[in-house]
Amino acid sequence: MEIQGTYTDHSHDTNVEKYYRFHSRIYDATRWSFLFGRDQLLDMIPVLPSQPRILEVGCGTGKNLDRLQYHFPDAHLVGVDLSPAMLNIARNKLSDTKQVELVQAKYGSEELNLEPFDLILFSYSLTMFADGIEDIMAQVSKDLNKRGYVAVVDFNTSPYKWFRQWMGMNHVDLNGHILPLLNKYYRPVETQKDDAYLGLWSYFKFIGQYT
Ligand SMILES: C[S@@+](CC[C@H](N)C(=O)[O-])C[C@H]1O[C@@H](n2cnc3c(N)ncnc32)[C@H](O)[C@@H]1O
Repeated sequence: MEIQGTYTDHSHDTNVEKYYRFHSRIYDATRWSFLFGRDQLLDMIPVLPSQPRILEVGCGTGKNLDRLQYHFPDAHLVGVDLSPAMLNIARNKLSDTKQVELVQAKYGSEELNLEPFDLILFSYSLTMFADGIEDIMAQVSKDLNKRGYVAVVDFNTSPYKWFRQWMGMNHVDLNGHILPLLNKYYRPVETQKDDAYLGLWSYFKFIGQYT
């Protein structure tokens, strides 16, 4: 599916980049307690062609790329992130491997010119893209091989306004808008929804195919 759009909110990106200057230091020590479903999503990835090309958008400190090396030992892995602080941690974590390429850039920007991928992974990054989400879908469609997969784990929503507002202050949009968009643009292969902390929020895992 071809999707068009232009992504222009630079102040949002600056705020996200500033946010991670501090949060990168405590990220790996704290996020295990609320970014649920990341390891399970990697277990849901379908069989890929040999020597697959895999992209993680918003790869952060490289946790998923580190695991993906073992899931797909013959893959070429690329991680893109706009935060230099997060990428520094990823670089240290992945310093022993030549399998992973890390790129500091805003996904969807013109400077980023990537060969197509067999799988594009978003792990708790799509809810940070603010109003640019349709443009991100357009970019994914350009960057995926035909019949390539998207794998997404992210927050869905929360019944509590105060919690949605608090997450908004942390640059996370909890409006439940991501899953419907993924279903619109990709053929759903597998979807799972779960509650966290007795329903304080819900999160989802989605595998979809670009047809
Ligand atoms: C919550 S972290 C997730 C990191 C990692 N995927 C994980 O699962 O631990 C979101 C990451 O997305 C990055 N990010 C947000 N907007 C981005 C954009 N437009 N382009 C590239 N990276 C972006 C942030 O810098 C941050 O590192």
